[in-house]
Amino acid sequence: MIELMQVSKRFGDALAVDDVSLNIARGELCVLIGTSGCGKSTTLRMINRLIEHSAGEIHLEGQPVREFREEVLRRRIGYAIQSTGLFPHWTVARNIGLVPGLLKWPRARIRERVEELMALLGLEVAEFADKYPSQLSGGQAQRVGVARALAADPDILLMDEPFGALDPITRESLQDELIRLQARLNKTIVFVTHDMDEALRLADRLVVMNQGRIIQQGHPLELLRRPADGFVESLLGGEDRGLKEAALLPVSQRMVALDDAPPDEQQVAQHATLREALSIMLWRHTERLTVVDEAGRPVGQLYLAQLVGINGEASGRGHDRHHRAAG
Ligand SMILES: Nc1ncnc2c1ncn2[C@@H]1O[C@H](COP(=O)(O)OP(=O)(O)OP(=O)(O)O)[C@@H](O)[C@H]1O
Ligand SMILES: [Mg+2]
Repeated sequence: MIELMQVSKRFGDALAVDDVSLNIARGELCVLIGTSGCGKSTTLRMINRLIEHSAGEIHLEGQPVREFREEVLRRRIGYAIQSTGLFPHWTVARNIGLVPGLLKWPRARIRERVEELMALLGLEVAEFADKYPSQLSGGQAQRVGVARALAADPDILLMDEPFGALDPITRESLQDELIRLQARLNKTIVFVTHDMDEALRLADRLVVMNQGRIIQQGHPLELLRRPADGFVESLLGGEDRGLKEAALLPVSQRMVALDDAPPDEQQVAQHATLREALSIMLWRHTERLTVVDEAGRPVGQLYLAQLVGINGEASGRGHDRHHRAAG
């Protein structure tokens, strides 16, 4: 869907992006992460040609991005940024309808689309449609920014720290929304963030950049297990990597079948992460949890010994030795 081939960007003498090659499949959520000034935003903005690249090639579905008309790029690529870039003297509804308006959609269709998007992002139409950006909280404004990026139903979304200024709870709910949106609408998303937990949670493909270059890319679990160098390792959290990996794996991956022992009082949901399970064990001073389904029915047991088998091959369902030892 998006292909960058040996792309570079020069600002005067400075090389902001240096020989970057990147291949993003349709429906993929690709996260760019790296230190400040490493070229993430520049990379993003070259894709929709807010910045022209100096060398290399950028293709959308096999066609050079330079050959697309501006109007086509605007329709096909949604763009959301941290500062939202909303027009202060336009209402929420008019801001969201910006691109459809530029594309000369009929007014009734724009109104319908705006209301559909507001519902999708949990913004009450009656309450927010006629408000101005200054009357919104940061989180509401960012939702409007995301709604605006989605307005013309682009198949590509470029998001530059779109949740940057939010508290952790609002941020998590917007992350969940984004994951749902991606699954439902099959968008191809390139997402820039400084927050490694956010990156690990969202990414199908994680791209680590430093000084204009890509240092490593792959699935988050791949990078956690085999960081290419000390820079990637420390960016991923150093000694914290174990917990970060546990946060990506569900309890169901390490639980064993229910045994004859009486069920434990301490429970964990089967869709919880291993990190959450470990936290419950630490908090409750126990090495064994009963795993329950959504209806609260016991479906298995989770033992500490198996939980910490995360990186070893001595893990997985029904590993008898650990099971008995812990039981
Ligand atoms: N218009 C510009 N003119 C000159 N230099 C620029 C311009 N835009 C960016 N740069 C430089 O290019 C480099 C990469 O900038 P970029 O904005 O892509 O970094 P970033 O990874 O997004 O950083 P941050 O995490 O701080 O947002 C930086 O050194 C920056 O100073
Ligand atoms: Mg940036």
